[in-house]
Amino acid sequence: MKILVIGGTGLIGSRTIQRLTEHGHEAVSASPSSGVNTLTGEGVADAMTGVDVVIDVSNSPSFADDDVMNFFVTSTTTLLAAEKDAGVKHHVALSVVGTERVPESGYLRAKVAQEKLIRESGIPYSLVHATQFFEFVKGIADSATEGDTVRLSHASIQPIAADDVAAVVARTAVGAPLNGTLEIGGPEKFGMDELIATGLAAFGDPRTVVTDATAPYFGAVLTNDELIPGPDAQLSTTTFSEWLARS
Ligand SMILES: NC(=O)c1ccc[n+]([C@@H]2O[C@H](COP(=O)([O-])OP(=O)(O)OC[C@H]3O[C@@H](n4cnc5c(N)ncnc54)[C@H](OP(=O)(O)O)[C@@H]3O)[C@@H](O)[C@H]2O)c1
Repeated sequence: MKILVIGGTGLIGSRTIQRLTEHGHEAVSASPSSGVNTLTGEGVADAMTGVDVVIDVSNSPSFADDDVMNFFVTSTTTLLAAEKDAGVKHHVALSVVGTERVPESGYLRAKVAQEKLIRESGIPYSLVHATQFFEFVKGIADSATEGDTVRLSHASIQPIAADDVAAVVARTAVGAPLNGTLEIGGPEKFGMDELIATGLAAFGDPRTVVTDATAPYFGAVLTNDELIPGPDAQLSTTTFSEWLARS
């Protein structure tokens, strides 16, 4: 089985390729650094030659509302058209738990648009909805920093290790298309403020976290459980403290 990983150089992409390769699959990385650009279309058709499954774990270089919408709509449209021409049998994409519940977030609106294109493409597909990665803790802090203060609410978050996400993405890609969504999350629920404070302290980062119920998370004020997976989600076992100890 030949599997093309769009965004194969990224956090999840590189780990997914490692998993697939360890299990004897032919996994090929595609991204701008290897001449495949899903925004411009460069190299996309050639990359599809002989491909059975496409995994899309690419991400927008800019999180500005218009940029991220343009990235996911353009890149997904380009990919799906090339997959149809090449006879690809399964499209797997990684998205975020709660996309539909946070319309105030430009990033999540773009992920909703990406998912709609995939569902309506006619290509067998699997959507993996993951919660926030442990590796994203610093990114969350940076997005909420003013001076030396990080303002975040106590809304719930149930983060997961990137390695655990990659394992599920790889397993999903070699299975039958779900034509639906699989939710995955970490084993523990935190308050956003508490998670980021714990992470920053462990990284030796001097910023102070201030709890503020009105503080936005990437443009959206969360009330409580918008980012939490449902009762059917698959929960991984790596805890945040295990991950911190390893990192
Ligand atoms: N962060 C989270 O907590 C979280 C949670 C749930 C789901 N997700 C989803 O997980 C996915 C992967 O995230 P990540 O953190 O692994 O991403 P990442 O590390 O930022 O990697 C992004 C990848 O996208 C590639 N890329 C950028 N522009 C491209 C283009 N025009 N054409 C093709 N490839 C392009 C990059 O290639 P180069 O290296 O060549 O630039 C890189 O391989 C995203 O779709 C995100 O929505 C994230």
